[in-house]
Amino acid sequence: MKLLVTGGAGYSGSETAQQLIEAGHSVTVFDNLSRGHRAAIPAKANFVYGDISDRVALAEIFASQKFDAVLHFAALIEAGESMKDPALYFRNNVAYTNNVIEAAVRAKCLKFVLSSTAAIFAASDEPLREDSMIEPANVYGENKLIIETMLRWNQKIHGMRYACLRYFNACGATKDRGEDHQPESHLIPRLFYVALGQSDAATIYGTDYPTPDGTCIRDYIHIADLASAHVLAVEALNQKETLIYNLGSGVGYSVKEVLEATRAVTAHPIPAKEFPRRPGDAPRLVASSEKIRKELGWTPRYNDLKEIIASAWEWKKKNPQGYA
Ligand SMILES: NC(=O)c1ccc[n+]([C@@H]2O[C@H](COP(=O)([O-])OP(=O)(O)OC[C@H]3O[C@@H](n4cnc5c(N)ncnc54)[C@H](O)[C@@H]3O)[C@@H](O)[C@H]2O)c1
Repeated sequence: MKLLVTGGAGYSGSETAQQLIEAGHSVTVFDNLSRGHRAAIPAKANFVYGDISDRVALAEIFASQKFDAVLHFAALIEAGESMKDPALYFRNNVAYTNNVIEAAVRAKCLKFVLSSTAAIFAASDEPLREDSMIEPANVYGENKLIIETMLRWNQKIHGMRYACLRYFNACGATKDRGEDHQPESHLIPRLFYVALGQSDAATIYGTDYPTPDGTCIRDYIHIADLASAHVLAVEALNQKETLIYNLGSGVGYSVKEVLEATRAVTAHPIPAKEFPRRPGDAPRLVASSEKIRKELGWTPRYNDLKEIIASAWEWKKKNPQGYA
């Protein structure tokens, strides 16, 4: 298939672009490099520098070739930032995604895969299923929920087939790609900053959550596994009209457990300072992936937290300044 990958210079989008190419698809990456990296884009992908705010640029790219599907990763992804500047998030993530959907519909490119998030769900003690209660705790999660709704209406009205993949903390690295967000708010790379002497101490926000050790519990999913789910989903849209899947290991780890595992992997004491809760953090979000495993045969390769952290640590040691 001919595929357009928005945000394909980013952490998850670039690895997905790589796996799509390995699966035999032709990939064009569209990214403004605001938070992504030129070096992360696969060598065999066509790259178009552009912003999804730019409706003319979007019309041009869809006119340049007949795409079979869009995989939409381009977004701002910081839940904390979204609670400080909601307008920025509604604009970049919701309004500009509407531009992408509109341009795709006009070009009759009627398959769409959305990088959604488990942050659309209410916190739960049980692994989150696709029918779990929806109640975003932050603006970022609300953004993705609105986009899912936009896709549903575009399906009803224009026949757009779509897949929403809802996941939480993407993590880990492959040989060529790792996590290099600026700013970096994700736990594992922030712990590495300390292990590499780039920061004095790790920060833990909230130690009074209703969890066994008082810190938030999350699911961790390796980018290689995320990418393989995206490949399966876009191919499955040839047969199915709608696919909604949660992606995760079904196993949750608390912030303190991730800290301990990272101490073990890096053999560094990683001192940590504790701070009050941040707005928008739900106590426990862990996704069950039973449905996608059963229906699409998705089999994640990584299910061991230390193994995931070790893959990220290997990349970080080789690239202490990230892609810079
Ligand atoms: N990282 C996670 O833990 C996680 C979890 C769930 C969902 N997601 C979703 O996956 C997607 C990718 O996340 P990521 O971690 O790879 O983030 P990332 O920041 O590494 O990648 C996002 C990419 O989108 C690009 N981008 C942002 N705004 C743009 C715009 N207006 N025009 C063009 N390009 C733009 C950035 O330059 C960047 O390359 C996002 O949609 C995110 O919401 C990520």
